[in-house]
Amino acid sequence: MELGLKNRVALVPASSKGIGLGVAKVLAAEGCKVVVSSRNQDSISKAREVIVKETGNNNVFAMKADLTLKEDIDHLVDIATSRFGTIDILAYNTGPPKPGTFADLGDSDWENGVKLLLMSAVLLTKRVVPGMVQDKWGRLIYITSSTLRQPVPNLVLSNTIRLSLAGLSKSLALEYGSKGITSNGIMQGHILTDRQRQVATDLASRSGKSVDDAMKQMLHDVPAGRYGLSEEVGYLVAYLASDKGGYINGTMLAIDGGLIRSVF
Ligand SMILES: NC(=O)c1ccc[n+]([C@@H]2O[C@H](COP(=O)([O-])OP(=O)(O)OC[C@H]3O[C@@H](n4cnc5c(N)ncnc54)[C@H](OP(=O)(O)O)[C@@H]3O)[C@@H](O)[C@H]2O)c1
Repeated sequence: MELGLKNRVALVPASSKGIGLGVAKVLAAEGCKVVVSSRNQDSISKAREVIVKETGNNNVFAMKADLTLKEDIDHLVDIATSRFGTIDILAYNTGPPKPGTFADLGDSDWENGVKLLLMSAVLLTKRVVPGMVQDKWGRLIYITSSTLRQPVPNLVLSNTIRLSLAGLSKSLALEYGSKGITSNGIMQGHILTDRQRQVATDLASRSGKSVDDAMKQMLHDVPAGRYGLSEEVGYLVAYLASDKGGYINGTMLAIDGGLIRSVF
C-alpha cells in the first residue's frame, strides 16, 4: 500500500532509541523528512546515522532538546521548520516518567511528570498547529501508553498524567477536524526497549525476583505472548499520518498484543 508520505515533514521527539527511534525509522523509510531529538546530542546524532544507513533517506535532521524545557521546545520547532519547512506530522513521543507507587512519589516528581508527559505535548502542539492550519493539512499523533486505559500499580505518574493526553487529543480533533488536521493517540503496551527493562528492574526490586523473571512475568497478561517492536508502533503512526488514514480522528488506538482487557 502506497502511503503517500514522501516529503512530508515529520517531527519525532525523544527518538534517540526505543519507540521514538522505531517510529522515526519507519517514517524515514516512507520518504518523510524527519526531525529527531533527545536530550543528548551524541545519542541523537548516532540515531540519525542509524536511520540514514538503514533507510537510505538523508533527509533526517537531529538536534538536542529537553522536552521538560519550554525554550528547548521552541528552539526545536524553530530549527526544524527552518530546515525542512512546516511540520506536517507531529509524532509526539516523550521520555519515560519516574516509576513508583503513590507513596514513593514526592511533589517534585509530580511536577516533573506533568512537565514531561503533559506540558511537552501542549507546547509542541501550540507551535506546530498554526502551520498545519495554514496548509489545511496536518497530523497530530500522541504516543502515550496502555496505562491510560489499564493502570499499572507501580506507574502512578503514567496512569494519572497520560489520561490528560486523551482529553487533549480529543479536544484537538474537535477543534481542528474541519481544517484538514486529524488528532489521535496511541496506547502501546509492552514494547521491547530500555524503558521496559527499567520497569522490570523496578518490579524485580519490589518482588525479590530477577530482572529476567520480571520481564517474563510482564508478558503473562499479553495474549500475543511476546513484546512488541518499536517499528510496529511506527507502522501504526505511518498509517495514521497518511491520507489513507485521514478519516481516523479523535481516537485512541491500542497496540498491545491484547493486553488491555476492556472491550472498548
Ligand atoms: N516501552 C514500552 O513498553 C512503553 C509502554 C508504554 C509507554 N511507554 C512510554 O513511551 C515513551 C517511550 O518509551 P521507550 O520505551 O521508547 O523509552 P526509552 O527506550 O527509554 O527511550 C526514551 C527516549 O526518550 C528520550 N528522552 C528521555 N527523556 C527526555 C526528555 N526529557 N526530553 C527529550 N527526550 C527525552 C531518550 O533520549 P535521551 O536520554 O538522550 O534524552 C530516549 O531517546 C515513554 O514515555 C514511555 O514511558 C513505553
